[in-house]
Amino acid sequence: MEVIVKSSIEYVSKNAADIISKLVRENSKAILGLATGSTPVGAYEELIRMHKEEGLDFSAIKTYNLDEYIGLDGDNPNSYRYFMNDKLFNHININMENTYVPDGKVKDINTYCQEYDEMIKEAGGIDLQVLGVGPNGHIAFNEPDQALSVGTCIVDLTEDTIQANSRFFDSIDEVPKSAITMGMGTILRAKKILLLATGKNKANVLKGLLMDKKITTNNPLTFLLLHPDVTVIVDDDAYSLCR
Ligand code: F6R
Repeated sequence: MEVIVKSSIEYVSKNAADIISKLVRENSKAILGLATGSTPVGAYEELIRMHKEEGLDFSAIKTYNLDEYIGLDGDNPNSYRYFMNDKLFNHININMENTYVPDGKVKDINTYCQEYDEMIKEAGGIDLQVLGVGPNGHIAFNEPDQALSVGTCIVDLTEDTIQANSRFFDSIDEVPKSAITMGMGTILRAKKILLLATGKNKANVLKGLLMDKKITTNNPLTFLLLHPDVTVIVDDDAYSLCR
């Protein structure tokens, strides 16, 4: 596991965009696993800049997103599909048909979840999975629990996560109570993982990953210890309990 510590989120974002763009330049058909949330936004802005100023070419790139709220369609500004279009896809030359975000309005969710994993496998697997982490250690929407799912599945969000995500909604009552998420197995099958974490509220779960080094379902982030190729980019605040 490579750990890179930066002084601010700007440098975390720049470093992350450098790693993603290197892959896109080396493999024009790369498959990216993407995350929403506030952490990767700066990296997406930098990728947009690279596209506009340096001609970084996304025309043959495929993307698979980690998760989506149940009940929100892609036109809803709080949906993760809307987020991805708004923060990245609408500003680069990606083929929208090659961008996959789980469908929060699908009827037969269990079949759909299996199909999502199959689709990723058939495409050849994710080359680089970008991850953020929740203050409680959740990865995608795999929340701390007694057991974690292997495949893509539907999950109930914890009160902590509903609270944390309410900042994006007009009121906490509007935050959906469930979501579709890639499972831990889906995530760990990615060839390379790029974890981004900034801020003091991530320090405790980062300590679990980088200092305690024990796998526990109480901190799903620690499952990254099982992956052979993880790069962690953090700011000083997120790293503060690891010194
Ligand atoms: C988003 C996702 C979540 C976020 C996590 C951190 O697709 O899967 O696990 O990565 O909630 O969110 P931020 O970056 O807003 O702190």
